[in-house]
Amino acid sequence: MSLQLTPSIKYWLNFIHPVLMWALLALSIYAAYLGLQVQHTRNAKGEEKKELIKGRYNVRHYQIGSILLALMVAGAIGAMAVTYINNGKLFFGSHLLAGLGMMSLIAFSAALSPYMQKGANWARATHILLNSILLGLFAWQAVTGVQIVQRILTQA
Ligand code: HEM
Ligand code: HEM
Repeated sequence: MSLQLTPSIKYWLNFIHPVLMWALLALSIYAAYLGLQVQHTRNAKGEEKKELIKGRYNVRHYQIGSILLALMVAGAIGAMAVTYINNGKLFFGSHLLAGLGMMSLIAFSAALSPYMQKGANWARATHILLNSILLGLFAWQAVTGVQIVQRILTQA
């Protein structure tokens, strides 16, 4: 069975993923800010700690992190689907590999949640390490992603 999509739908499908991923890049930076506030709250003392606890940074970070996990996995799979619809194959390049790598990293990172909540320092340290790599790869994906967008625009 072949997909019955008009050429213009196929073309416009190409822009969902880049727009979504730029929004997720902003959301990741916000998640990182909230995560650092979680750390700050844990290390604070006295009045400052009381004030920071009111910010509920742990809850907000976990919520934003969960949204990020779901949309990042769906966004990467969706991009592979659109690439396949338009080209009949995937491009085995750095954007694909880094994208698959990011999916694994965020899955591991999120899976550490129950251990972090029990107070395991190894889980916190691993979470921070994995997410630093995640943010680094995200910057890389933004660069190679824009190059792919430019290629699609000049082909049309
Ligand atoms: C930050 C900005 C990003 C831009 C502008 C961008 C742009 C693109 C574009 C234009 C494509 C071609 C397919 C399509 O048009 O839908 C693509 C493919 C893809 N992207 Fe992104 N992307 C970005 C970030 C990411 C991130 C963060 C991930 C992973 C978490 C990712 C994973 C993928 C994957 C797996 C493919 C399929 C590649 C292939 O099979 O050849 N991208 N991207
Ligand atoms: C951009 C990605 C992310 C960054 C930079 C980040 C960063 C951090 C940081 C710095 C902490 C504080 C660790 C400490 O207390 O020393 C933390 C805690 C935590 N993160 Fe993330 N994180 C990210 C994504 C996620 C995701 C995707 C999830 C789950 C879906 C998540 C769930 C948690 C949880 C449950 C905690 C423990 C909060 C608590 O102490 O109650 N994070 N994160």
